[in-house]
Amino acid sequence: MEITDTPNVILLDHPLLKHKITLLRKKETGTNEFRRLVKEIAVLEGYEALRGLKTELIEVETPIETAKEPVISGKKLCFVPILRAGLGMVDGMLELVPSAKVGHIGLYRDETTHEPHEYFCKLPGNIEDREVFVLDPMLATGGSAKDAIKLLKERGARKITFICIIAAPEGVRVFHEAYPDIPLYIGALDRCLNENAYICPGLGDAGDRIFGTLK
Ligand code: PRP
Ligand code: URA
Repeated sequence: MEITDTPNVILLDHPLLKHKITLLRKKETGTNEFRRLVKEIAVLEGYEALRGLKTELIEVETPIETAKEPVISGKKLCFVPILRAGLGMVDGMLELVPSAKVGHIGLYRDETTHEPHEYFCKLPGNIEDREVFVLDPMLATGGSAKDAIKLLKERGARKITFICIIAAPEGVRVFHEAYPDIPLYIGALDRCLNENAYICPGLGDAGDRIFGTLK
């Protein structure tokens, strides 16, 4: 069975998204363009991931007549980027829902073991009542994604969705086995991980490319 043969692993396939992810991968894409693309990709992925938002009817007066029409109900969304690279996706998501709260989870991968280490977590209040969207461009071994979800659950979050740009099959499997009920939105599913747990073909180190910290 393919890992994408489950309703909660959603591999997006819009041609605009594919095009932008291809540009993102190119090694000659500089910091400025890289940031812009990550933001645009977040808008496209967010548009799909937010499809389930609840609406309520309000009365509006058009120039023709009065009608009951839908608006998004409540303002209980929270976007949580995994630092650092997830930060690049926040502005795109906020363009879609400017009123959303933003929490932050800081994790870095140990260069040798590839295990994630937590260094920061700050979430808005009433996280248990909010719909939480975790943002990280890269899902490689799945370790960081799993730790972020664990942290959120420990702090009371109940309704969580994960959005990444590029995923490795290994990471998708690990994530989905740990959290089969959490929808996982993927922009592109790559071939595999290399010996350094980098995604192939991938785009290299997303955080370094967003923040211009490449060695
Ligand atoms: C990257 C990426 C993910 C993680 C994915 O972050 O943004 O958070 O690696 O790898 P995993 O699935 O194997 O855990 P990194 O730890 O490099 O930190 P950075 O964003 O600060 O560069
Ligand atoms: N983190 C990244 O930024 N890129 C990868 O390919 C794997 C983990």
